[in-house]
Amino acid sequence: MKYRVGVIFGGESVEHEVSIITAIQAMNKMDEEKYEIVPIYITKNREWYTGDMLRDIDVYQDFNLIKNYSTNVVLYYKNGSYVLQSKKGLFKKTIKEIDIAFPIVHGTNVEDGVLQGYLQTIGIPYVGSNVYASVAGQDKAIMKDIWKSANLPMTKYVWFYDVDYREDSEAVIKKVNKLKYPVIVKPATTGSSVGISVCENNEKLKEGIDEAIQYDSKIIVEEVVENLKEVNIAVMGNYEHQKTSEIEEVLSGNKFLTYNDKYIGGGKGKLKGGFKIPTKASSKGMASANRKLPADLDKEMKEEIETIAKDAFKALGSSGNSRIDFLVDQDSQKVYINEINSIPGSLAFYLWEAKGEEFTKVLDDMIQIGIKDYKKRTSKTHSFETNILAGFASHGGIKGMKGAKGKLR
Ligand SMILES: Nc1ncnc2c1ncn2[C@@H]1O[C@H](COP(=O)(O)OP(=O)(O)O)[C@@H](O)[C@H]1O
Ligand SMILES: [Mg+2]
Repeated sequence: MKYRVGVIFGGESVEHEVSIITAIQAMNKMDEEKYEIVPIYITKNREWYTGDMLRDIDVYQDFNLIKNYSTNVVLYYKNGSYVLQSKKGLFKKTIKEIDIAFPIVHGTNVEDGVLQGYLQTIGIPYVGSNVYASVAGQDKAIMKDIWKSANLPMTKYVWFYDVDYREDSEAVIKKVNKLKYPVIVKPATTGSSVGISVCENNEKLKEGIDEAIQYDSKIIVEEVVENLKEVNIAVMGNYEHQKTSEIEEVLSGNKFLTYNDKYIGGGKGKLKGGFKIPTKASSKGMASANRKLPADLDKEMKEEIETIAKDAFKALGSSGNSRIDFLVDQDSQKVYINEINSIPGSLAFYLWEAKGEEFTKVLDDMIQIGIKDYKKRTSKTHSFETNILAGFASHGGIKGMKGAKGKLR
């Protein structure tokens, strides 16, 4: 019997459109001898849809097509199965059963543990990082604090909340002034280069913070790596085993990589707001960015990056296939880890292909790791015999509850 894989994509995220592209790329390459693909699209309004038409990128140009010809569903647990059930109609019927969920989503509300939490609450096996690793993988402050305790090399940074800045901006500036200018200010959890600025002095810093605060309640400020070379590597595995892909160098004409560099590639497609997605010319997503692959690195630095990447993946407890981004100071030849992308654009398939691994095999490995994670998770004890509720009930009904509550006071 084929495994039924529910590929979940979209969602309420600024990277909604990019996720559609990544998911369609992946569905086109999934081994259909082995897996039955069930596309599950979450709209920006949090409605879930299923139907084969969702595998065609053109339908996303016109939401009415989706609304009229695919099925609005909910995913839940029913009689021992995970089902997609239609929301409309008198007789709510099961549209599909699925065996494993494969989140191919980017950004806040989906990649950051939120979707994973829902999947784990209903109990369905899923591919990729669990809730904790997903949260840490999206929040640059949590991520860096974990990596710091694992002794991984990073640029100096500080982080604070918007409320700290509102209440005592001077104290925050003082804290930031422990760093060396120029610094880079980032919203801690948004990603996609949104709200980021490089600041040369305190005046610019204030502007940068004002900008970042519009996007996030948590702000991170880091020392800038000058003479920068950016290199990325993918890591596949879980906390037990990790392997690395080829390394790419990402090229940008800008001071730092922008949303356009990342997703629009040659700059042909326009990623507009609303429901528009990039034109065919740029629908390759992350795979179309300008890059040198493999990156031009000496053997030692290559090995150093591979080792740090595996350690970083393990420190967060990541799973599946993530991309880890590095900043290299070309003067000092120092390597700094910058961030992880738990579910990278295009699932970083091009980094694996450069090492001779087909995308189909990468997807297969990811699903198999997801199954292993599920087995491991469910083999752990999650409950133990307790008579605490019996204790509450022993006084009988509501009165008993009152008595028990009294004891807790
Ligand atoms: N410490 C730094 N020094 C120099 N450039 C940086 C630094 N941090 C980030 N950048 C630049 O900004 C870009 C976006 O920052 P990043 O931390 O990757 O955030 P995002 O989650 O938005 O991708 C990076 O790709 C890089 O070009
Ligand atoms: Mg980045």
